[in-house]
Parts: sequence; C-alpha cells; structure tokens
Amino acid sequence: MKILGISCGRKDGNSELLLKKALKEAKAQGFEVEYLRLQEHKINPCTGCELCSNSDNWPNGRFPESGYFCCYKEDSDHLSYIVDKVKEADGIILSTSIYNLTVPGILLVLLNRIHAKNFAKHHEIAGKQHTLCATIAVGGSDMTNLIKPMLNFTAVELCGSQMNLVDQMVVQFCSAKDYMALLDDSIERAGLLGRRMADALNHQDEPYYRGLEDNPEFCPVCHGDVLQLSGNRVRCPICNILGDVKFSDEGKMYVLWDGGAELCRLNDNPNEEEVHVKQRAPFKAVKENKEKIKQVKEEVGGWIKPVPAPPLRDV
Ligand SMILES: Cc1cc2nc3c(=O)[nH]c(=O)nc-3n(C[C@H](O)[C@H](O)[C@H](O)COP(=O)(O)O)c2cc1C
Repeated sequence: MKILGISCGRKDGNSELLLKKALKEAKAQGFEVEYLRLQEHKINPCTGCELCSNSDNWPNGRFPESGYFCCYKEDSDHLSYIVDKVKEADGIILSTSIYNLTVPGILLVLLNRIHAKNFAKHHEIAGKQHTLCATIAVGGSDMTNLIKPMLNFTAVELCGSQMNLVDQMVVQFCSAKDYMALLDDSIERAGLLGRRMADALNHQDEPYYRGLEDNPEFCPVCHGDVLQLSGNRVRCPICNILGDVKFSDEGKMYVLWDGGAELCRLNDNPNEEEVHVKQRAPFKAVKENKEKIKQVKEEVGGWIKPVPAPPLRDV
C-alpha cells in the first residue's frame, strides 16, 4: 500500500521535516511512500466559470468521462498530475505551515480546483471510498485557531469527500526555519502519526481515527475543535451537525450532538438530494429571468467600472 505526503509549507521547512518523519515511520512499517512539494507545482487559480459545478454546462447533462471539466486546458498546470497521485495512494498525509490562522493560499487554490476533477462524483476523486488522511500543521505563534477545521476539510476533500481522518497534529511557536529540528517531542509525535496511518491502513475494519488521546476535539466526526453559534444551539462548521452544550457532573463542558457521521454533510447523508435541489434552483431562475437580470444589473451597477490593472514594470 502507498502513502502520499503533500508538503504545503516552505521548501525543506518545519512542516516538511515532520512529514518526512511520518513517512519514514510508515515506510518502516512496510509501506511505499513518496511526497510532493506543492510550491514546486503550478496550479491555476479557479476563475469561478462553474463549468465543473453547474451541471447545466455538462455535455449531455453528465460530467465528462474524462474526469476533467474546466476552462483551463488540462495540461496547462499540474492539477491532474496531483489528483492522479492522490488517486494512486491509500493514505495521504497533508503537512502545512499555518498562514493567517488557517491554510496557505496555495492549498486553497488546490482545494478550489479539485472541483474540476469530477465534482459530480466526489467519491471518485480519490478513486475509492477509503483513502485515509492525516494532517500536520506548524505555526509560528498560537494564532492557529482555524487550522484544524480548514486543513482537515481540505484533507477529506482530497479523500473523495469522506471523513476518513486518522490523526492530526498542530505545533505552535515554531517560526524560524529549521527550528523544528530542535523539537524532539514534535518530531516524535510526527513519527506516531506515521505509525497510526500505517496501523489504520492495516486495520481498515476498525474506526480510523487514532488521535483521541492527544487531540482536544468537539466534533466526533471531523474531530475539529471549533464550534459555531447557531441560535441557542451549536454547530460543527465543517460537518454542519447541530448540538447542545452540556456540562458533566464534574463541570466539564461537552456537546450533545443530534447525531454522528450519518448527519455529516461531507458523507453520504439523507439531505443530499434536498441540498442539491436548493443548489440547482438559482441556475434555473437565472435562465428564466434573463431580461429582469439585465435590467437590474444595469440599474444597480451599469454606472461604474473597475479601475484597470496597470501593466507591470519589468523587473
Ligand atoms: C504569510 C504568513 C502568514 C503566517 N501566519 C501565521 C499565523 O496566522 N499563525 C501562525 O501561528 N503562524 C503564522 N505564520 C508562521 C508560519 O506558520 C511558521 O513560520 C511555520 O514555521 C512555517 O512552516 P514551514 O517552515 O513548514 O513553512 C505565517 C507565516 C507567513 C509567511
């Protein structure tokens, strides 16, 4: 079995060192391992053309068999190359630096463009249902609050939109390049993450998640530690499951959720058809109201144009 590492931080940086440690341990367990460095790959930013996500645009109403539908030519960047690597892998370890509380832009660009790869059949992005994932994040401070939900969300999207997280780790206050080499505990923890990935792949009949002991979490589905207020209830911002805050007899706060994986919007869930209908409705309305839309756009915005981007001076 194969494990693919995706390094999204600096070349030879702190998060990449942890990724290498995790892969080294997985290799020692008999796995084939390799990694790619996202910074060395070109991925065109999504233009929002919606060719991939609006099924009205699909030839014969079906996503093309080629598995790619985008305004960019397929060989104009490395998207397909990366997705093919992901498809080949049984497990993915995503390792990244933390930028502005969350994942770096380059990873978001990849996430946005994944839609162009068979958006209609999320699960087939990974070529199978059970690609497992684990995540590593390194920040220079404690401004790391949004990293787990966003990074884990990105990881599961790469796994065909299934919540197949095995483990996650976040290291704070590690800003200087190479400082990670001095943090024995973090390197050791990354090794554990690699072993856990290997173990989860070897025992796929058991629950995948192995990070319960050392990862404070609220949501038992995506294992995130961020809650969103929703009226007088709380919501997992990734899974979209609702729950109520409760306190145990010892005064420990916990959330009593309405349900588990069966309600997670990233897994097959009973509301999928309903959500799909709601998503489609605006496309239908736009088709049927072309004149009115033209009128309103002219009235509201016809008087102003964006300032043109000036030509760049050669450097
Ligand atoms: C543009 C930019 C934004 C950053 N934002 C954060 C942040 O919000 N929180 C944080 O803890 N560290 C932040 N950092 C620090 C990096 O996460 C830190 O240097 C980390 O070691 C980089 O990992 P790497 O060596 O694997 O790239 C930021 C760094 C850069 C360059």
